[in-house]
Amino acid sequence: MRLVLLGSPGAGKGTQCKHIAAQYGLLHLSSGDILRNQRAEGTNLGKKAQKFMDSGVLVPDELVIEMMAKAIKKVPAAGFILDGFPRTLNQAIELDKSLGRNGQKIDAILNLNVDDKVVAKRMTGRRSCPQCGAVYHIENLKPKVDSICDRCGTALLQRPDDSQQVVAQRLKTYHQQTEPLVDYYKHNSNFFDIDADREPDEVSALIFEKLDALAKCEA
Ligand code: AP5
Repeated sequence: MRLVLLGSPGAGKGTQCKHIAAQYGLLHLSSGDILRNQRAEGTNLGKKAQKFMDSGVLVPDELVIEMMAKAIKKVPAAGFILDGFPRTLNQAIELDKSLGRNGQKIDAILNLNVDDKVVAKRMTGRRSCPQCGAVYHIENLKPKVDSICDRCGTALLQRPDDSQQVVAQRLKTYHQQTEPLVDYYKHNSNFFDIDADREPDEVSALIFEKLDALAKCEA
């Protein structure tokens, strides 16, 4: 299965992609995580991306498209779920073209819907583990020991782009440049709007229902 997960910043894409990847044996490819790894490793791409990410605007298409094309080449037969990519019309068109060259296509698009006020709270309260990537929230998903990762014991951090000011810019960027992708994809018969203003497990259940039905149809 080749899936795209759309949704505003903080809609829960990363959280849901982890569940979907585990349930269906897919590779979770997050453009944001790949960019943050590039920054941590101090690569040229990471250095170029830094100022865009920290100010809440998109990294230029040419950098992201090449980076994701490389990542997609390494995908196992079971398929992938894309998180945070595509994020512009140009990225979506290039993704379709590059899959098409190999006789492939996106099988389903899931669009997580949550109000801006809810996602702003989710992002400013998010804490992440810099070591293993686990994600927590200061109210909704607390670690057992305050500010310490349950999985690996590392001190949790707030992402630099989760400050109130940058969150406001990220939401603006989303509405201007990424939300139009809904129009690009909604004619696909496997485009699904998902109510993501629910408990994480309930959101997963809604997604699994759609994907299980799709898998049955195609079997
Ligand atoms: P990226 O890392 O992709 O960030 P984003 O899209 O802004 O998404 P987030 O990671 O903030 O949120 P999420 O939807 O994954 O939510 P999460 O599950 O963590 O991108 C960062 C930057 O990189 C961009 O601004 C841009 O500069 C650059 N970039 C990346 N991709 C690019 C591209 N394709 N083109 C150009 N530039 C690109 O959840 C958030 C919080 O809410 C967590 O604390 C979680 O525990 C909590 N939570 C999750 N679900 C629920 C729920 N159902 N109920 C309550 N709380 C919940």
